[in-house]
Amino acid sequence: MGRKVAIEPVTRIEGHARVTIHINDDGKVEESYLHVDQFRGFEKFSEGRMYFEMPVITPRICGICPVSHHLASVKATDRVAGVTPPRPADLLRRLLHKGQMVQSHSMHFFHLASPDLLLGFDADPAIRNVAGLIEVDPGLALKAVKLRKYGQEIIRRLSGRRIHMHWAVPGGVATPLSEEDRDWMLSQADEMIGYIQDGIQIAKSWLEANQEIVNKFANFPSNYMGMVQDDGALELYEGKLRIIDKNGKFINEFENTQYLDYIAEHVEDWSYLKFPYYKPMGWPNGVYRVAPLGRLNVASHISTPLANEEFKKFKALAEGPVEPSLYYHYARLIEDLYCMERIVELCEDEDILSDDIIDTNVQITGEGVGCIEAPRGTLWHHYWTDENGQITKVNLIVATGNNNWAMNHSVNLVAREFVDGNNLTEGMLNRVEAAIRCYDPCLSCSTHALGQMPLIIDIVNSEGELLQEFRRD
Ligand code: MG
Ligand code: NI
Repeated sequence: MGRKVAIEPVTRIEGHARVTIHINDDGKVEESYLHVDQFRGFEKFSEGRMYFEMPVITPRICGICPVSHHLASVKATDRVAGVTPPRPADLLRRLLHKGQMVQSHSMHFFHLASPDLLLGFDADPAIRNVAGLIEVDPGLALKAVKLRKYGQEIIRRLSGRRIHMHWAVPGGVATPLSEEDRDWMLSQADEMIGYIQDGIQIAKSWLEANQEIVNKFANFPSNYMGMVQDDGALELYEGKLRIIDKNGKFINEFENTQYLDYIAEHVEDWSYLKFPYYKPMGWPNGVYRVAPLGRLNVASHISTPLANEEFKKFKALAEGPVEPSLYYHYARLIEDLYCMERIVELCEDEDILSDDIIDTNVQITGEGVGCIEAPRGTLWHHYWTDENGQITKVNLIVATGNNNWAMNHSVNLVAREFVDGNNLTEGMLNRVEAAIRCYDPCLSCSTHALGQMPLIIDIVNSEGELLQEFRRD
């Protein structure tokens, strides 16, 4: 008679999930699943709204990454309305996006990921968190707070709010950037770049010192997908999507608006979250990984100097793609550095203070796709409207969904490697969580539900009997 270990929900990730680990009579892990309880009401709920309401409504999908939805949404509405934002508006939206990336990536590494690295997977969970970090390295914890605050300040100074913004509008943005706010952003930049570089050193030295664990920990081949500029450089806001195979061989590059020709979604009855895959290769051969590791694996270089220096070191780690999931943390910080450098470039652009920020020449086209690289991966908003711009249909593919297969596979590999059903420890279960945490999933988004939910870990036998329950709030 086998047993089932359920971890629900997972801690130090955003949102709600349940992990079930099936254990056989010998205490060996047979199979593991990450379940996400998706609430798919949002797409339906939007029908009947006017297209221009969508950038205001959709940030409410998620309290964690409202900016990503705001921007993907507004790009979709540009196309619905047949308008093209003037260059200054495009720059300002990119600046907002980079602010969001810096706050999200920095918070993830310093607050959510680094406790495992700096305190250890087996550390007492009571101290394996930010409070524990403050104990061992108060300076580092302070840097984390400052980085997050800086990103949030960019968002607030541009949009007037940290969440539920009403700033990017079809055809542009509602308000320009003031000289004072631009100067403030620039004045902090060197300090923030230094903090991220400190984070990179921490991540790199941990990965180097723990190669044995890293190579056993959710290390597997896959395809990869991410946005690139025309010359193959890393891109996060607008560009083609490039997909490569497990050997690093180029498979395709396609317009992000044409995603329906290339991306399909597989359904499993044990999870409400769908499994996107690259359609021409079919399921399951077409599964891929997105977000920092995916994006750096597909990119040929980075357009900013400091991040590109680090990118070269990242590329030198492997002949083909970098595969161990723990390298997501390093890749995430390289992107963080890139975003800081881009913030400086954008602030120094001669058009950034311009008040030519909107195209109001609306000609309803009836359809629009908006795609961006959110912190957690490729995000699509797709709207169809009637001739008046009233929404008739919505399709969203959320960033975290793109890594659904990869997170499941990672959970499975880590559970098999580290979990012993006869001698279960909290540290083993934490490793399973850490596998998911590499991907920084936003389960608020995936579930299209509001806010965050509480945390439980269950151990259940094959007959569904609860053997043990771990509850963490
Ligand atoms: Mg959908
Ligand atoms: Ni989210």
